[in-house]
Amino acid sequence: MALKDAAGWNQTPADWKILLELAPQSCFGIECDGKLAATSTAISYGRELAWIGMVVTDPVHRRRGLARRLLEHALQYLDARGVGCVKLDATAMGQGLYEQLGFRAECVVERWLRPAGPIAASQNVRPYAADRVLDRQAFGADRSTLLDKLARHGAWSAGEGFAMGRDGAQAAYFGPCVSRSPEAARDLLGAFLKTRAGQPVYWDILATHPAAAGLAREHGFTRSRELLRMVRGGSVTPDASLNFAIAGFEFG
Ligand SMILES: CC(C)(COP(=O)(O)OP(=O)(O)OC[C@H]1O[C@@H](n2cnc3c(N)ncnc32)[C@H](O)[C@@H]1OP(=O)(O)O)[C@@H](O)C(=O)NCCC(=O)NCCS
Repeated sequence: MALKDAAGWNQTPADWKILLELAPQSCFGIECDGKLAATSTAISYGRELAWIGMVVTDPVHRRRGLARRLLEHALQYLDARGVGCVKLDATAMGQGLYEQLGFRAECVVERWLRPAGPIAASQNVRPYAADRVLDRQAFGADRSTLLDKLARHGAWSAGEGFAMGRDGAQAAYFGPCVSRSPEAARDLLGAFLKTRAGQPVYWDILATHPAAAGLAREHGFTRSRELLRMVRGGSVTPDASLNFAIAGFEFG
């Protein structure tokens, strides 16, 4: 938590716990003088896809090759297990390293922020029911184990879609949201915002999704930062039009 706080990130201990539970063998760290100095996580969605996250080095230990060593180690681990495709969401600070390790740009991911404020709630949601077929189509790989864990923090279904949301260190987090229609996505967003009227909210949107950005504007969100989704190897082909909100930079 201290490392990610130094980077100004939004994850909570619950997010770390999910990553460590999903992939205890492929979350790596380097200690310097008995203290954790750098981390990386890599969760696998079957053999098809792995997602790298939480690449962060203590500011006092930066530019000494720690992140490079962790990434090389993680990629060796994944390659040895035959994982065909590896993706991540890169900050500007990380992009150069990832390019050197064979990652190429896939698309921009935009972080949108809504300040705390009231919201007119939608009545059209129902209790969450997993839709693995829809999620697989949207994401391109089977992330049902992750979704089962995230759903415990808050989840809804509406129309042909579902959404989840959870706490964050700086702002509550809306996502993932997968839907066949903007109408269902609007209802799902309303259900989440109703539970968070007193809090700021983050929503990460693929820049290739104008309908999601339109909904964000309509609900008082503004764009606050940009990351670059990058990919190495593989042929995992998501249907981005269904993906109204990603699950998190660290989850995909
Ligand atoms: C990005 C980060 C993890 C790099 O950690 P690090 O341990 O300092 O990285 P390394 O020393 O292994 O550097 C590897 C390469 O990354 C690139 N790099 C590292 N820091 C950089 C920076 N501030 N700006 C641009 N490129 C950078 C360089 O190409 C570097 O190789 P070089 O030193 O031979 O030129 C670290 O700066 C950090 O924690 N930043 C805040 C969190 C963050 O943005 N993480 C990336 C998430 S995708």
